[in-house]
Amino acid sequence: MNAASRLSKEYIMSAPQRHEPLVCLTAYTAPVAKALDRHCDLLLVGDSLGMVVYGMENTLGVTLEMMINHGKAVMRGSRHAFVVVDMPYGSYETDATLAVENARRGIDETGCGAIKIEGGAELIAIYQALAAASIPTVAHIGLKPQSVVKEGGYKVKGKSDHEALSLVADALSIEKTGVIAIVIEGTIEGAANKIVDAVSVPTIGIGASAACDGQILVSDDMLGLFTDHVPKFVKQYAQLAQNIDAAAALYAGDVRARRFPGDVNVYKNMS
Ligand code: KIV
Repeated sequence: MNAASRLSKEYIMSAPQRHEPLVCLTAYTAPVAKALDRHCDLLLVGDSLGMVVYGMENTLGVTLEMMINHGKAVMRGSRHAFVVVDMPYGSYETDATLAVENARRGIDETGCGAIKIEGGAELIAIYQALAAASIPTVAHIGLKPQSVVKEGGYKVKGKSDHEALSLVADALSIEKTGVIAIVIEGTIEGAANKIVDAVSVPTIGIGASAACDGQILVSDDMLGLFTDHVPKFVKQYAQLAQNIDAAAALYAGDVRARRFPGDVNVYKNMS
C-alpha cells in the first residue's frame, strides 16, 4: 500500500474551489473499502455500523474500540480515499480533554486522516480543543443520529426560518474553529443551500442538497444490502440483499442435493 497516493485533507478542503463534487461513501470492512476506494474521494467509517453491521437499533451502543477496529480495517483495505472515522456517542461531547484523548486514539491507532463529531455551536469548546490539539475534524450538523433518542426520532431539520438560521449560525461558528468539512444530514434543501452559501469549507450532504460540495450515503443503503428502512434520500444502485438471498438459495440446493462440493472443489491426492 502506497500511503503517499492517498488524498490529503488539503485536497478535500479545496473541493469548493475545484467545483468538483466530493464522492463519499461509508465503509466498515477491508473488502468493501477495497471495492469502493478507487471511486471515492472520502470513505467514512460511520457509527452507522451500529445498525448496518451489528444490527443495533441506533448508534448509541457503538464504542470507540469498535470504531478503531473498523477504522483499521478500512485503512488496510484502501489506499486512495481520505478516510474519516466517526467518534461514537459518549466519547467526546461532555469533556474537551476526553474528546482530545479519544480523538487522538482514533487517529493514531487507525492512521485515518480525520475524525467526525456530531454537533453545532453547543460543542464549540470541543471543536476548539480538537483544533488546538491539531486533530483534523469533520463536523456533522442537521439531523444528528446520535441525538435521535433524545429528540424522539429521525426528524428533518431546517423546516422553519428560525431553524435554518440557527443551522447557518452553527456552521459559521464551527467553520471558524478550522474544521475540514461539514456533513449536513436530513435538512430541508433551502436551509442546506443557505449553509452551503454561508461557509467556505466543503459541505457534504446526505438528505440535504445537490448544491453541497460533496455527497455521502451509507454504502449498505446504496448497495441495497440494508433494507430494514430505506429513507427517501437513498438511491439504491444495487440489490445486494436479493443477490445474497439468491446465492444462498443456490448453495443450499447444491449442498442438499450433494452437488457441492464437486470434483473440482476437493483435494484428490497429497501432492
Ligand atoms: O455514521 C454515518 O454513517 C454517518 C453518515 C450518515 C454521514 O454519519
